[in-house]
Amino acid sequence: MNQSYDLIGVGLVAVDILWITPPNARAGEKNNTPQLIMQGGAPAGSGTCGPAMLGYRAGFLARLGDNILSNIARDEFAARGVSTDLFVNAPNAEPAFALVQIDPKSAERTVYYNLSRYQQLQAADLPVATLRKARTLLLDSFEIDATLAALDAVAGTPVRTILDLEHGDHDRIRKAIAKATDSILPWGLARELTRKKEPGEALAVLRTLTKGNLLVTDGVRGSWACDGQDIRHQPAFRVSAVDSTGCGDAYHGGYIVGVLEGWDLGMRMEFGAWLAAEVAKSLGGRTNLPSRQELASRNTDMLTSATRAVVRKLAATPASSSLMPSGKELSGKNTDMVGPKPRALIRTMDAIPSPSVL
Ligand SMILES: Nc1ncnc2c1ncn2[C@@H]1O[C@H](COP(=O)(O)OP(=O)(O)OP(=O)(O)O)[C@@H](O)[C@H]1O
Ligand SMILES: [Mg+2]
Repeated sequence: MNQSYDLIGVGLVAVDILWITPPNARAGEKNNTPQLIMQGGAPAGSGTCGPAMLGYRAGFLARLGDNILSNIARDEFAARGVSTDLFVNAPNAEPAFALVQIDPKSAERTVYYNLSRYQQLQAADLPVATLRKARTLLLDSFEIDATLAALDAVAGTPVRTILDLEHGDHDRIRKAIAKATDSILPWGLARELTRKKEPGEALAVLRTLTKGNLLVTDGVRGSWACDGQDIRHQPAFRVSAVDSTGCGDAYHGGYIVGVLEGWDLGMRMEFGAWLAAEVAKSLGGRTNLPSRQELASRNTDMLTSATRAVVRKLAATPASSSLMPSGKELSGKNTDMVGPKPRALIRTMDAIPSPSVL
């Protein structure tokens, strides 16, 4: 790919086998399971697929080898429009392999995963020049060293860095939050980091680490963000959920679409929640991600009129022509940090004080 990327995902690659346990399943027997699929997964992996399906130029950085699971993972990305050009070829590397059991009543998922043949990215794997030319990066905590290295690699550029952190060493998680422009954490990790009882209180504590955008998600309870001194809440959209796998990933993907389109924080949260609710309607975290064309026929009635208007406009714009010229700096309204709007992100991030200990 010669053009620069709208989005590069860096992180874990997984192949998931997902099934909804049939109502009359019997232990020790062979159970016919009509709802059983194999699909690519993982937070940054599926998070990158959302914008790619909507026509943005996306690539993914991870180590893959020449074996069946790696080939499936590559094909799964390619099928959703993610370029496979950035994968690092490491002969024995394999994706994570996961079994995901969905409860037919609650749509909750239980995940069993194996990382024994997964190979972490090495510093030399990072295509620094390509990362610095991208418009956004989506970075996870499975590859926290690569995440920190990528954040350092793009420091001083206008690249927006969106984190999907789920677990891991608290010091390195805090470092990543301090360096990124947009951190979106599940409530479990935010609670662990801050020992607070409510997302709003946790955000106030995390705010001491960064002037970037800070968000916390908590399943059907919705999501919260620091908006200046205030806490903003975006409820989850009520849908008849089949499988909650990938809701967080889709939320990140929808949020990134909003970053790429220059939407304000409220619109980004709303579109993230909308895309997550779409994904919850089907088995698998990538099954119901809409293409740009499909977006026009999806139900957006639950969105506020302002967000519905920008989503309709997006749906009506052919993918290639809706993109800003590659390498163009994201506008000031896109960098809604606390305090005065920065003229360029680089100056804001440079001005961030070193992280205080929580
Ligand atoms: N069952 C659901 N129905 C509708 N929307 C949902 C549902 N579950 C989650 N969401 C939406 O997705 C957002 C993110 O979900 P959640 O907090 O579960 O992410 P997560 O813990 O990162 O999940 P995962 O990593 O498994 O995808 C929520 O804030 C909400 O807007
Ligand atoms: Mg998640």
